[in-house]
Amino acid sequence: VGSERINTDIVTLTRYLNEEQTKHKEATGDFTYFSHPQQDDQTSIAYYIRRASLINLGGLAGSSNVTGDDQKKLDVIGNDVFIAAMRSSGRVRVLVSEEEEEALVFDEYPEARYAVMCDPIDGSSNLDAGVSVGTIFGVFKLPIGAKGTKEDLLKPGTELVAAGFTMYGASAQLVMTMRGGAVNGFTMDNALGEFILTHPDMRIPKKRAIYSCNEGNSKYWEEPVLEWVNSLKQAEKPYSARYIGSMVADAYRTLLYGGIFAYPADKKSTKGKLRILYECAPMAMVFENAGGQAVNSKMQRMIEVVPEHIHDRSGIFMGSYDEVQKVIDIHKKHG
Ligand code: AHG
Ligand code: MN
Ligand code: MN
Ligand code: MN
Repeated sequence: VGSERINTDIVTLTRYLNEEQTKHKEATGDFTYFSHPQQDDQTSIAYYIRRASLINLGGLAGSSNVTGDDQKKLDVIGNDVFIAAMRSSGRVRVLVSEEEEEALVFDEYPEARYAVMCDPIDGSSNLDAGVSVGTIFGVFKLPIGAKGTKEDLLKPGTELVAAGFTMYGASAQLVMTMRGGAVNGFTMDNALGEFILTHPDMRIPKKRAIYSCNEGNSKYWEEPVLEWVNSLKQAEKPYSARYIGSMVADAYRTLLYGGIFAYPADKKSTKGKLRILYECAPMAMVFENAGGQAVNSKMQRMIEVVPEHIHDRSGIFMGSYDEVQKVIDIHKKHG
């Protein structure tokens, strides 16, 4: 007490983006332009989530989306808020959302060159219980003159220029990375209304005895997955199990503490559950840039997987380098 120093040189997300832009002479500033509305989006979603029980925002919307999920009211509102924020930026040409069957093409700004993919609310089945949920985003830069058709979007995660997520937990945490760059974590300061850089250059621990998956699906799992999970339970010091059921929250914990998150493809869901463009690929970029690994159920680098449709799914294993390597090694053994 008494020795704590007040930080008089706070790095807000706004300042961070401005500084990044200044550092990169070739940068047009476009990215910064739509990062600001995006920050506003996640600030408003955090606000709605926290007030949901007070303003009748709980429960189902009464509709379902193209991937077969029953939409919650907040899925619909989160989607509308995200779309409005991206449209208003004037820099986004195409938008893909879990909650929109087709890619949306914005014609208002013909010069706009970005495609943004998003999961407006990840883990929405947890909303009414007040459990952490998130927003996931990935960004492609389109070639000049691109018509912004779907074909511009069926690209691997290696083409992403930026990706990240915000977790709405006890605090709202934004994690973002750019292609080949560091992973930075920001915490929402509710008083300032700004995300503050609190976790610069996040590196995932090389290993940790924590696994995170929905073991209720094990009846449908393939042999290598069963063998892998069993090996963790039978380890000399057995692993801890942690599963929130909100991928963003499970991923955030995994990024900080280490361990592994898995949602494998199985005999019932042969393509897996999580969707490539706005769930798997952005997470793969975050985990790889933080020094971890992310692979699909065929043990290919998740970030190299090319979707055939904007809502295509994949199995995924992501986390600490050594923990994912264990999965790869067991699968290789099975051939
Ligand atoms: P979403 O809420 O965006 O549709 O995503 C749901 C996903 C993900 O958040 C989570 O990891 C997973 O579904 C949980 O699935 P199970 O309930 O099958 O475990
Ligand atoms: Mn959903
Ligand atoms: Mn999701
Ligand atoms: Mn969602």
